[in-house]
Amino acid sequence: MAAKLKRTFFCTSCGYETPKWLGKCPSCGEWNTITEHVVAKESSSSSPRLISAPKAQPQLVQEITEQTTRRIDTGIGELNRVLGGGLVPGSLILLGGEPGIGKSTLSLQIALTANGLKTLYVSGEESAEQIKMRAMRLGIGNEECTVYTETLLESIVSQIEELRPDMVIIDSIQTMSTDTVESSAGSVPQIRECATTLLRVAKSMGTAIFIIGHITKDGTIAGPKILEHIVDVVLQFEGDGNHTYRILRGAKNRFGATYEIGLFEMRESGLREVDNPSEILITHYDEPLSGCAIGAAVDGIRPYLIEVQALVSGAAYGTPQRSATGFDQRRLNMLLAVLEKRVGMKMFQKDVFLNFAGGFKISDTGMDLAVVAAIISSYYDRPLNEQACCAGEIGLSGEVRPAPRTEQRISEAARLGFKRIVVSSYVQKSIKCPKDIEVVFISSIEELPKALF
Ligand code: TYD
Ligand code: MG
Repeated sequence: MAAKLKRTFFCTSCGYETPKWLGKCPSCGEWNTITEHVVAKESSSSSPRLISAPKAQPQLVQEITEQTTRRIDTGIGELNRVLGGGLVPGSLILLGGEPGIGKSTLSLQIALTANGLKTLYVSGEESAEQIKMRAMRLGIGNEECTVYTETLLESIVSQIEELRPDMVIIDSIQTMSTDTVESSAGSVPQIRECATTLLRVAKSMGTAIFIIGHITKDGTIAGPKILEHIVDVVLQFEGDGNHTYRILRGAKNRFGATYEIGLFEMRESGLREVDNPSEILITHYDEPLSGCAIGAAVDGIRPYLIEVQALVSGAAYGTPQRSATGFDQRRLNMLLAVLEKRVGMKMFQKDVFLNFAGGFKISDTGMDLAVVAAIISSYYDRPLNEQACCAGEIGLSGEVRPAPRTEQRISEAARLGFKRIVVSSYVQKSIKCPKDIEVVFISSIEELPKALF
């Protein structure tokens, strides 16, 4: 008798499951995203080879023996930082990012750097020769790293059971498929089944597994959101393809906080850790230039100093142009309106262009003061004091509000040898100032020029 096929419908956008076809997904509201999939051959009892976990018993919270989670040093400081202090054995980690951003490079580097750890790098995208070539380029060799080019999940699981590695990398989840699901690799049911199987393998064997997932244009992980629910940790690898800087960001972490970021620079020989971002985000000019200002920014909890450049020039046409790279254009318009109204600068006749160093995207409102300082400097064509920087938010009536974590920003500026920092006077009483930097407190935007020129 032919095995019966079980069919069901999935939304390709959010992973919603329905027994019949629908035009609009009731879960995420997208149109034409529901597709039909053959889920399982009924004859095959589902995944018989998986180790069944021992039955859990309810326990009083006081009686649960606390195992301090062991953390493994991955050998990459920036990665340890984002993971919350190292890799937890048996964790399932999703590494997402746009194509070409460097996910394969980063994960191969993880596999090769993890000295003393037994690693298995599974690739469904590249041949063993291509991986060898990349490993040569990276110039790191781990004798305990095994490369396996395979896309069938059952074979991968049996290799994991045989080799018993400490760490496994699956590049990428969209190329993997399991026999128990009939639909093609990369489809919602395949991704879901593969990820849950890998979760069980990770937990039962204590192996940490990294899953690489491609991200679609709109920034979501291709395939369903459910992938994010299954894994323990979600890491996003971001950056601008035209620039060399990459940010590794934690979006979810069951073993730690998500506010840490890791910084890397893409080089000829792979990714290099950037443990001192401020030094590369500030250019040292021979002569001071107008239109340049330094802001003390914070991303997550990490303070760094970054250069902002503004160009203010007479508008040649009726409507002035406003363009911002790496900064919210509406916020720029608001700051220009404040300058117009409160400082009396004639911004309506000016084109304004704004740019941040390194292709960084800034969403920190604490950078308002630096943006305004750069604009004022370009408007009057006068360079600012090179030894000074600023951190503060600007309100609609021109008042300077404190930026979050002002104290850390001041310390970072002092550490980098700046002699003066301009911040909001609201925090004057509550913060301790380091000795080697002059902290200037201002309450309104009108006081800014005097403090910085
Ligand atoms: P890759 O890791 O293949 O990206 P992903 O797996 O996310 O699709 O890397 C993509 C880019 O990185 C590629 O365009 C070349 C560049 N690259 C370097 O600049 N230096 C290197 O050492 C390596 C390995 C890659
Ligand atoms: Mg890749």
